[in-house]
Amino acid sequence: MLEVQNTGMAELRIGDKTIELPMLEGAEHEGAIDIRALRKETGFITYDPGFVNTGCCKSDITYIDGEKGVLRYRGYDINDLAEKCEFVDVAYLLVHGTLPNKEQHDSFSAHLNNHSMLHEDMRHFFGSFPDHAHPMATLSAMAVSLSSFYPELEDTSKQENIDYKVTRLLSKMRTAAAFSYKKSIGHPIVQPRHDLKYCENFLNMMFSTPVNNYQVDPVVANALNKLLILHADHEQNCSASVIRMVGSADANLYASISAGICALWGPLHGGANQHVIEMLERILEDDRGDVKKVVARAKDKNDPFRLMGVGHRVYKSYDPRARVAKQMCKDVLDQLGVSDPLVDLAQELEAAVLADDYFQSRNLYPNIDFYTGLTYRAMGIPTNMFTVMFAIGRIPGWIAQWLEMKEDPHARIGRPRQIYTGPVHREVH
Ligand code: SDX
Repeated sequence: MLEVQNTGMAELRIGDKTIELPMLEGAEHEGAIDIRALRKETGFITYDPGFVNTGCCKSDITYIDGEKGVLRYRGYDINDLAEKCEFVDVAYLLVHGTLPNKEQHDSFSAHLNNHSMLHEDMRHFFGSFPDHAHPMATLSAMAVSLSSFYPELEDTSKQENIDYKVTRLLSKMRTAAAFSYKKSIGHPIVQPRHDLKYCENFLNMMFSTPVNNYQVDPVVANALNKLLILHADHEQNCSASVIRMVGSADANLYASISAGICALWGPLHGGANQHVIEMLERILEDDRGDVKKVVARAKDKNDPFRLMGVGHRVYKSYDPRARVAKQMCKDVLDQLGVSDPLVDLAQELEAAVLADDYFQSRNLYPNIDFYTGLTYRAMGIPTNMFTVMFAIGRIPGWIAQWLEMKEDPHARIGRPRQIYTGPVHREVH
């Protein structure tokens, strides 16, 4: 971790008192003010709903330039990684800080295979969920249950345990996701296979049945590999912050990941990819494709409706992942010979957003969720599994953020303050 540079002192004047606060600068020259002494020196706290202006940590993992639309994992640009790498290698990069050499790749892949099956007793969980259970509920339950089945891995002091922990989660969450899908359609589960790579294994567990001679389509496997890379990390987003918060209380990794899955489920976060498709279907069916009507609703302050897949807390330009996902969506549909009216509608909606001053004046652009669901749909993945796909991709990033927090000497239990606005003291009579 590069030590942040002190670039001088900021002055804060409150009444007749002036204090100095250190100014810090990160590796990409982003500036921050260190307010750790603020309350002790002044009795004041800061007020920042949604932590729009608040940094919770220093981190080596992911860098985003929201104004320029730049995303890098450990210094590598997202376009480079999506084009040239396997998701398994990007997972290794996020956790260890370097891309794996052949020996490290082979060892990591062997761990993934060795940990791909679920404990037989865990399999019975699926039977007790109702068929209509959302797969994100199942996934979160499976994640926290791993701490009951594999408690020995709570000791992160040993380096080899980290690879066990990472690959166990990466592999078993992928298996659990496929099992939850099979359960939801009443099909028998399909076990993972050691002769298939990570993405091919998932597709086989999802779509193979005792009566079809399913063969993994390389176009679909390649698209899944890229999609998982696009989702692998995104610095201090809502679910990553939840992972850090839960981990800061010294809760175990599996409990932290389970909480992160629940945060990601929210429609304002990872759940948006499912809601984009449902929004496009409603526009087509209810509004006969009337984009103008839905754009007018999104701009109407009296209407709570928002365009799903549009806008971002950090990107005030086109999300670089959305650019890759848009091209991928077209390529996958072409290569599979599939046409989808929702894709044309999505492009029409995007054009309306890019041309409308309401969105442009607020720097609202398509984000990662705008096109990814359309690609999953072309690959045959059902809508209620889209956020599960996001979660599987994000697991290495969550683990990397959690491990970094555990190793940070400045890390403390997360406990924000508040401005109290309730009743002042009163007696019970
Ligand atoms: C992800 O943080 C991450 O990195 C997340 C993520 C990751 O990889 O982890 O990138 C993944 O969560 C992507 C975002 C997916 N969510 C959606 O697509 C849901 C739709 N988007 C919005 O709800 C919203 O844009 C958020 C939640 C993404 C961001 O919310 P902010 O930063 O709190 O912005 P805001 O609500 O304060 O909006 C600012 C203005 C407001 O108008 P004014 O009050 O200035 O008049 O923009 C408007 C908002 O009303 N606005 C929208 C809009 N998003 C913001 N208006 C219409 N449609 C929208 N989608």
